[in-house]
Amino acid sequence: MIDNKTIVLTGASSGIGFEALKLLAQGKGNRILAVARHVDNIQYFADNVTAFSCDISTQEGVDRVFQKAEELFGKIDLFYANAGFPYYEEFNYADWDRVDAMFRTNTISPIYTYAKYIRHLNGRPGILAYTVSAIGEMAMPGYALYSSSKFALNGFQQAIRLEAPENLQITCLYPVATDTNFFKVANAVEFEKPFPVQKPSHVARKMIEGIEEGKERVYPSGLFGFAKVLMGVAPPVRTVYWKMETKKLDRFKKKLSVYHGRIQERVDAAVEKGREVGGTLLEKEREARKDLTEKAAKVHDEIKDKIHGV
Ligand SMILES: NC(=O)c1ccc[n+]([C@@H]2O[C@H](COP(=O)([O-])OP(=O)(O)OC[C@H]3O[C@@H](n4cnc5c(N)ncnc54)[C@H](OP(=O)(O)O)[C@@H]3O)[C@@H](O)[C@H]2O)c1
Repeated sequence: MIDNKTIVLTGASSGIGFEALKLLAQGKGNRILAVARHVDNIQYFADNVTAFSCDISTQEGVDRVFQKAEELFGKIDLFYANAGFPYYEEFNYADWDRVDAMFRTNTISPIYTYAKYIRHLNGRPGILAYTVSAIGEMAMPGYALYSSSKFALNGFQQAIRLEAPENLQITCLYPVATDTNFFKVANAVEFEKPFPVQKPSHVARKMIEGIEEGKERVYPSGLFGFAKVLMGVAPPVRTVYWKMETKKLDRFKKKLSVYHGRIQERVDAAVEKGREVGGTLLEKEREARKDLTEKAAKVHDEIKDKIHGV
């Protein structure tokens, strides 16, 4: 159990972060700054938890988190940068902002956090924890952007260990698919999760134990560790696995095209209805104009008659 620590935890409102929050809040003497953009469900979580609504995908956001933690605790013993999100999709578009959004949250923010945290520690001991991903070590079809954002973070943690000061422990988590809101965020249309799937409570417990034990890397799924070794010595196993996951993506693409087809049908029906209503309104307007013109002409004639009569 982690005790007597001042802790910043990002992505604390849901999934792995929420489960980690439950465990950390139980630690004797811990004080936690729990960060997410929406914090309604953790606002009154426990006396030792301060919920803080903040978007960590910007420099100002991360700066605000440090400022708030320093105001509250003075020092930060453990910074757990857990917030992140995926896209599940066929990467077939040119949309700079969409790519940028993913990398800002999943990669740039935790990298910038490292630099801020080193300065904050100023030689004191500290722990930096990252939630990376199994997909940050093995790419997957449907997750091209997400994989690359986590591969980049994984590369960073690997390189930075070689130059990080000795007062810093870095612990990274590599979960396989975990049953959280992650998959709802990844795409509005339901899709098949990669195999295998774990519970967020299990993943969070493994990570908290790993941090406590000073581990560099935490793999909550033994199967992933085994698969990595197996795929290393027998690469065809990886090819078979990737084929299986690519079939899932193909099924998703079909489902998505049916979904888009239905939306298009609804849009077409709405446009047609709009045209009908518009046509009827135009007809009514024409009739009303005609009626008014006739009435005006009649009134005009009556006035003329009256004037001539006088
Ligand atoms: N679930 C999986 O299969 C899986 C596998 C491997 C790795 N991971 C990694 O695990 C971490 C946690 O994900 P999860 O599975 O627990 O998903 P989740 O249930 O969707 O939780 C994500 C958390 O991050 C917060 N968050 C997202 N963007 C944020 C932002 N810009 N600023 C502040 N907070 C933000 C969310 O809260 P708000 O939306 O309210 O901000 C939420 O609290 C992520 O880094 C993810 O990449 C997940």
